[in-house]
Amino acid sequence: MVVRIEPSILSADFSAFAAAIARIPSADAVHCDVMDNHFVPNLTFGLPMVQRLAQVSALPLDVHLMIDDPDRWAPGYAEAGAQTVTFHAEAAREPIATARSIRQAGARAGIALKPGTGAAPYLAAIEEFDQILVMTVEPGFGGQQFMREMMVKVAEVRRAVAGRDVWIQVDGGIGESTIRIAAEAGADVFVAGSAVFGADDPDAAITALRALAAGTAPS
Ligand code: DX5
Ligand code: ZN
Repeated sequence: MVVRIEPSILSADFSAFAAAIARIPSADAVHCDVMDNHFVPNLTFGLPMVQRLAQVSALPLDVHLMIDDPDRWAPGYAEAGAQTVTFHAEAAREPIATARSIRQAGARAGIALKPGTGAAPYLAAIEEFDQILVMTVEPGFGGQQFMREMMVKVAEVRRAVAGRDVWIQVDGGIGESTIRIAAEAGADVFVAGSAVFGADDPDAAITALRALAAGTAPS
């Protein structure tokens, strides 16, 4: 299993994203939390910011859309050059059509599940998706506590994607004390905000998290 560590710039300095990205050269991608103050009770940034980050970032962008009407907005993030665009199942009217538009615009298509959302309907159409994001907190804010009970869903998704190149992402409360639990349940893409950008040396934090997820460091 390839472990991917994707730091969330939600926990970085909002006045200096380019500098924050320069501090995490060993990251696999930069996780960009787009929030619209409707789907979640928080507001971050939108397409112009992601377009600009795509120009300046040496790392791929992993866009997590926490917005209403992703059917309308998601393809634009793919056109901006994001590697993966993930939208919320709860917000999409036509999730399969939206995933297809993301792919058509050249990005990998991801679907995100809030803690209360079941995976089954999306696993039945698994060939439409390149990534399933199992939220391990309620979306909206960094620094929340990891919901261990979501590991049942992670394991269910892992069983369903067997033999396919579908990444299983976890997001929320991932840090040194939780990443191994998520990896053992079957996750292979780990978003970490405060655990990376709250560290004195963010790149060293990534190395430590990667070793824990891969099982090459004592947990
Ligand atoms: C929460 C966001 C997360 C957030 C994670 O809604 O989707 O990506 O940045 O932050 P931590 O790792 O601090 O829980
Ligand atoms: Zn996120």
